[in-house]
Amino acid sequence: MSDFTNAFARRTRLRGGDELTAILAGSPPGVLSMTGGFPNPATFPTDELDEIAARLVREDAAVALQYTPCAGIASVREYLIDRQEQLQGRRPEPADLIVTSGGMECIALMCQALIDPGDTIAVEAPTYLGALMAFGGAEADAVAIATDDDGLRVDALAARLAAGLRPKFLYTIPEYQNPTGRTLPLDRRRELVDLCRRHGVLIFEDIAYRELSFDGTSLPSLWSLAPDVVLQAGTFSKSFFPGVRLGWAAGPPDVVAELAAAKQNTDQCAGGLGQRLVEEYGRAGGFERHLPAARALYASHWAALSAALTRHMPAEVDWAEPTGGFLTWLTLPEELDTLAMRPAAIAAGVGYVPGPPFYVGDNGRNALRLSFSHLTETELETAVERLATVVRRALERAKVGVP
Ligand SMILES: Cc1ncc(COP(=O)(O)O)c(C=O)c1O
Repeated sequence: MSDFTNAFARRTRLRGGDELTAILAGSPPGVLSMTGGFPNPATFPTDELDEIAARLVREDAAVALQYTPCAGIASVREYLIDRQEQLQGRRPEPADLIVTSGGMECIALMCQALIDPGDTIAVEAPTYLGALMAFGGAEADAVAIATDDDGLRVDALAARLAAGLRPKFLYTIPEYQNPTGRTLPLDRRRELVDLCRRHGVLIFEDIAYRELSFDGTSLPSLWSLAPDVVLQAGTFSKSFFPGVRLGWAAGPPDVVAELAAAKQNTDQCAGGLGQRLVEEYGRAGGFERHLPAARALYASHWAALSAALTRHMPAEVDWAEPTGGFLTWLTLPEELDTLAMRPAAIAAGVGYVPGPPFYVGDNGRNALRLSFSHLTETELETAVERLATVVRRALERAKVGVP
């Protein structure tokens, strides 16, 4: 067998260790996995999609099956512009919005368009692992800004900016954050956009879970508050289905133009069939019909997980109380190590994501992320029972000094 490792780019070694690859690879059979931020397939509107997809192939093949303009099919962009206005109370100009192949592509385009090796960016601590990996691959120097129960600590960012920090952008997930499930309150949103505007810092707002509040309400997006300093990445992966690989970027037109130029060097356009599916489904009122049931399902799953955590977890364990999305974040006593505990958890039949991969540097050892989107409510109960047993055992070992 030839060995091509010498041919691999240096950045392939920046991606994190085998541990991370093992975590992302999924869980063995029999393990109740609370790892992935996957939407529940019960929320996929298959019947309607069946009809729309067949119709598009039959009647619209010349558009839906063809290459599309890099920024997206004109009618799809028009639909997305209408939708932002309807959902966020502000209408983007045509030059303010492009269609992307999902939220992750927008992160990759931001890396290509804005980051030179060694550039400083700011991220929440903790933050979305996929974004951290992309920023690492682009050789950004990611500076971690502290968070608390209300998300990003704007005062901590203000202190860093006052001390001379000049990031190319601040990456933030304001609602139902990945990995913590927390949401930035309105006063902090206003403070954040004012602060960044004063310092000329671009905010990169990732709204992956925004449409999945449990009660259907939402706070103003950062982009709607300050379109001059916010580049927003949206995706249909959580609210529709990830197989469509579709999202959008909205923000200052000069930034959006650079993202479109970067997209010319990647996939050149998002898939036309997915674009037209979203448009047809959306224009027919599909999201309004479908999202209330999806929200109710995730709210009910969270209620089941929350009750199970309360019932089974030792008193020393704390967790975030999300008001939407798929995720919660557990904080265990300092002496526990969630990376070291993972094999015992897998052996006990439960999967979680340990805290450290969500941080720049070596933090989050005593934290872990749970997703409640995918398992049934009965499975969530069993999974938490198993996890609580593993945590209790680890606590006992820590008390008697066994590593
Ligand atoms: C915060 C956040 N942003 C972006 C993404 C990626 O979204 P997409 O599937 O649209 O690439 C995810 C997926 O888990 C996410 O959690």
